[in-house]
Amino acid sequence: MTGNPESPDERPGDAEPRRGITRKHLLNTAAVAVPASFLVGAAPAQADSDQSGKRLSPTPSCDDGDDPTPPQTEGPYFKPNSPERTTMLDGPGTRLVLTGIAFGLDCQRLPDVLLDFWMADTYGQYDNVTYRFRGHQYTAGDGSFTLTTIVPGLYPGRTRHIHVKAQAPGKPVLTTQLYFPGEPGNNTDPIFDARLLMDVRTVGSGKEASFEFVLNVDGGPGEPGGTWRSGTSYKAGDKVTYNGTQYQCQIAHTAQPGWEPPSTPALWRRV
Ligand SMILES: [Fe+2]
Repeated sequence: MTGNPESPDERPGDAEPRRGITRKHLLNTAAVAVPASFLVGAAPAQADSDQSGKRLSPTPSCDDGDDPTPPQTEGPYFKPNSPERTTMLDGPGTRLVLTGIAFGLDCQRLPDVLLDFWMADTYGQYDNVTYRFRGHQYTAGDGSFTLTTIVPGLYPGRTRHIHVKAQAPGKPVLTTQLYFPGEPGNNTDPIFDARLLMDVRTVGSGKEASFEFVLNVDGGPGEPGGTWRSGTSYKAGDKVTYNGTQYQCQIAHTAQPGWEPPSTPALWRRV
């Protein structure tokens, strides 16, 4: 038995003011660990294509200036205690694989972030009795996550969306919604926020989507005291401090999480 939302589940009054569009392109997670990428001039990491087939920028999209992912209303259909799972194929529909990364404010990747998703089925109905199209999971050590589900259906008053709660360990819960580009309803739904658009690609008979969360979490694992910062471009000879130790850059590169000076002797030498 499913709920039948006759009326919109969220109220326009809850909408945040719309600011500039910050379109977040998910970049691969695996390429960060490829040693060849250390080298200046190495081939860029794989880049995705958008729906027009245009190549997306290989430049990491998270920078220290990114605002946190904006919150949105929860609506009336959240249910606690969803099952832990990464696959929610609980009915017919167009298959959708959503991947992404949870970042902190300093672009540090956040492991063990609770992501609790809930959404309507392909007919636009929420299951308020059992847990169809409801599930939670935790981000991996590199902050990544994958959710395999379907494209949620439409229901009156709302554009297409996926609800999600995101919570880093011991931090406040972010409640928000993710949107699909190109939906006619995006122009009329007062809750819609372009900052929450996923990148969506058609792949075969299904869809692939990506989204990067930026959670309001300062610092974090891998960024203790010092002047080293992920996202910074260093050239040979540059000096930084990290956890009270000074290091000198050996090879020009752009610092990334996982490339902290103590763990990358090819890039940094203690001085
Ligand atoms: Fe909803």
